[in-house]
Amino acid sequence: MRGIVAERSLRGSGVGPAPYNRAVNTDPQLPQKVILDGDPGLDDAVAWLLTLASPEVGVLGITATHGNVGLPLTVHNAGVTLALAGEVGAAVPYFAGADRPLVADAVTAAAIHGDSGLPAAGLPQPTRPPEAEHAADFIIRTVQAYPHEVTLLATGPLTNLALAFRLVPELPQLVREVVWMGGSTAGGNRTPAAEFNALADPHAARIVFESGVPLRMVGLNVTMQCVADPERIAALRGLGNRAGEVCAELLTFYAGVYRERYGLSGGALHDPLAAAAVIRPDLLDWQPMRVDIEIQEGLNFGRTVCDLHGVTELVPNARVAVGVRDEAFFALLLERIEALP
Ligand code: BDR
Ligand code: CA
Repeated sequence: MRGIVAERSLRGSGVGPAPYNRAVNTDPQLPQKVILDGDPGLDDAVAWLLTLASPEVGVLGITATHGNVGLPLTVHNAGVTLALAGEVGAAVPYFAGADRPLVADAVTAAAIHGDSGLPAAGLPQPTRPPEAEHAADFIIRTVQAYPHEVTLLATGPLTNLALAFRLVPELPQLVREVVWMGGSTAGGNRTPAAEFNALADPHAARIVFESGVPLRMVGLNVTMQCVADPERIAALRGLGNRAGEVCAELLTFYAGVYRERYGLSGGALHDPLAAAAVIRPDLLDWQPMRVDIEIQEGLNFGRTVCDLHGVTELVPNARVAVGVRDEAFFALLLERIEALP
């Protein structure tokens, strides 16, 4: 059985290989197979639109987690984002995952993303409901179906990935790579020490960082350099399509929050930069590094402790983004959003 029709018939059946979105990518060898895991969240939605529109990538499915807003909203927003993507979103299944962190108390970021997580008017409704399968089961089934081929692009707390890795301890050895927006080589944004995605489930982050999975971390030290200022928002709106208009509206709301909280000219494009790291890794500079996650309660709870200078002499467990070509990144984002309806 070949092609999108055959793959659609497998979706959600719980057996056989996971569907592969060849509506976007016709060459089964070339594009990277990717699962998008996140907590939309307006920058998650922009990141997912960027990914769905990119021919280098075939999106196998979307798994939602708790995070910026509660799980029912992030699942709904996953369906909304797929509807926004039009044809390239039509064959992509989406799944509900963890509704809370493994151990820590739940935190949200509705103050930054709005109560709904997607503060824009006139958004489309999901064209279909989420699949019944749990996100962690989908991740397990899909990675096992395509050993060493699947990239997990995570733009929220790492709870779904940690659950999958705990359920199947050999899974990290079968994953091609985890690319995570989270953490920082420096300070945090939710607390002085912790970045939001790390703080929202530090125990899960620790499981993933200690799993041995190939891992790249895109943290605040680079994402805060990529800001959607009014000029960039105008460029997105100027594309003249619905996706550009929605991105502009979301980023306008976001800019207001960032101006007030951080004194920046716009919101930081955290999650879209992590997506770009999958599509065009050359847009960032990478340094192998030992990264440990602080899970002791206290001032440093949720901190990603980055051994920038190798002082621990421990074997690196991640490649950490330490530099970014911001202009080229934004040009990529603009070009790909233009390709959407
Ligand atoms: C991260 O936290 C969330 O609020 C954003 O969606 C992003 O993933 C930035 O710290
Ligand atoms: Ca996010």
